[in-house]
Amino acid sequence: MMWAQDVVVVGGCGHVGLPLALALADRGARVTAYDHDARAVAGVLAGRMPFLEHGAEPVLARVLAARRLTATTDPAAVAAAEHVVVVVGTPIDEHLNPETMALPHAIEALAPHLRAGQLLILRSTVYPGVTRLVERRLEELGLALDLAFCPERIAEGRALAELCSLPQIVASRTATGRERAARLFRQLTSTIVELEPEEAELAKLFTNTWRYVKFATANQLYMIANDFGLDYERIRRAAASDYPRAADLPGAGFTAGPCLLKDTMQLAAFNNNQFALGQASMLVNEGLPLYLVARLERRFELSRLTVGILGMAFKAESDDTRASLSYKLRRILAFKARSVVCTDPHVSTDPSLLPLETVLARADLLVIGAPHAAYRGLRTERPVVDVTDLLGRGVLV
Ligand SMILES: NC(=O)c1ccc[n+]([C@@H]2O[C@H](COP(=O)([O-])OP(=O)(O)OC[C@H]3O[C@@H](n4cnc5c(N)ncnc54)[C@H](O)[C@@H]3O)[C@@H](O)[C@H]2O)c1
Repeated sequence: MMWAQDVVVVGGCGHVGLPLALALADRGARVTAYDHDARAVAGVLAGRMPFLEHGAEPVLARVLAARRLTATTDPAAVAAAEHVVVVVGTPIDEHLNPETMALPHAIEALAPHLRAGQLLILRSTVYPGVTRLVERRLEELGLALDLAFCPERIAEGRALAELCSLPQIVASRTATGRERAARLFRQLTSTIVELEPEEAELAKLFTNTWRYVKFATANQLYMIANDFGLDYERIRRAAASDYPRAADLPGAGFTAGPCLLKDTMQLAAFNNNQFALGQASMLVNEGLPLYLVARLERRFELSRLTVGILGMAFKAESDDTRASLSYKLRRILAFKARSVVCTDPHVSTDPSLLPLETVLARADLLVIGAPHAAYRGLRTERPVVDVTDLLGRGVLV
């Protein structure tokens, strides 16, 4: 069978779908980014990245000019490609329940456009068992497709570099599925790691959970040191210095964003809500903004002060505000302080944000939320809460 396109990425204008589409197109594949977000599709076709991703704009310009990438809101485009990679969002709801059917429902909606002989690759981070469920659905629909689960493991912002340097986990129930998926990803990386689908589903969740627990350890140690009047970062640096067994002890800071908490909660739900370490990590990480406010209340009459938050994205050098703890901090301070003013050099989607100079002029007290490099040379006489020690003045609150 001759295919008009090599790859269609479903969710192809999202934070992981678009870098994958770009990377494959840049290596010579003919790629379609299919996404139901019409604004993002129009932006991509016009050469605009919908979000910050290091080094992506020149690649986008290159692959558009070479006609190796196109974007569409038309699901019929799925029928034209040999490989269908699905990387739609798999969120948790406001009660922390995973949307277990997000991916199966997206695939059911695509069913009229799937064709015999395609390789369907699931790439979202899924609730364990979703690959098996999709296998059954395909059978019920009478669709003779190969199916693989190949989880995405990049960190937002570094996707283009990491797609070509990280090993790719490839899982399929069939040898053909494994071979075809490995062949596709070998265009990006030389290292393919094979697992069974259920192992691969857990491998992805374990990876994110491990990071989440590690950050929680750092944040808890920060609080212990801080309550004792000691500077966590000074202790951490000394402990890690030339001592490999402590070298991976992270600094403290807001641990947030669209993946780590969500995936820890997916694993907890999968294990009948029995995941003491993951749930304790959530209490620590999600509790950090409240802890900081409680500490500030001991030193300041917050109700008389305007507090400025610097950095509203969920992490440094990002424009992504999804599940950002800076917003949780803003909500608490809106209740406790006289007023809160916020700024971020990268976030353009929130009209309530103010320029940095305005925030510096109006705030009596500053908190660094996302430690963007732009704040490194900050000059202010105001007290600054700087848990990550971006300014190098210490982290005591
Ligand atoms: N963001 C990360 O750093 C990261 C890293 C590794 C894995 N993941 C996983 O990748 C998946 C996607 O995450 P993301 O951050 O890219 O989310 P995202 O919201 O940025 O992207 C998802 C895209 O899919 C589109 N979409 C949703 N449903 C669709 C449908 N039925 N048909 C067509 N388009 C549809 C959305 O419009 C959006 O553009 C999640 O499972 C996430 O856990 C994310």
